[in-house]
Amino acid sequence: MKRVGAARWAIRAGAVALAMGVAGCAPKPLPESGSAAELLYAGRCGQCHRPYNPRTLTAAMWDLQVDAMQLKIAQAGQAPLSAAERRTIIGYLERNAGHD
Ligand code: HEC
Repeated sequence: MKRVGAARWAIRAGAVALAMGVAGCAPKPLPESGSAAELLYAGRCGQCHRPYNPRTLTAAMWDLQVDAMQLKIAQAGQAPLSAAERRTIIGYLERNAGHD
């Protein structure tokens, strides 16, 4: 009987942790919310996964990441980022990037 009680407690603790995790992921507004750059970023970079907050990577890492994503975009058959789109997105990410 004791074991059943423990299992039930573990399930309840798991449910609480899950609920907290979900609440922790509530979408936070991106920087420069509503600007042309933010809308382009969220539109182009939020189709396959949520648009990551620029704070989560450094400027140098964004540079590499956007190049890696060009490949994903091509593989998915989406239109590649134009030079102007890439400049706007990189500029937006770098202005708001995190620091080491
Ligand atoms: C066509 C779908 C697609 C689009 C559009 C896309 N991504 Fe991705 N992205 C992926 C996939 C798939 C992964 C998972 C990692 C992998 O497979 O390399 C990923 C991973 C990432 C990661 C790494 C997350 C991690 O935890 O390591 C970042 C950051 C990222 N993408 C940023 C961007 C940015 C910035 C753009 C816009 C330029 C973008 N993505 C557009 C498909 C996409």
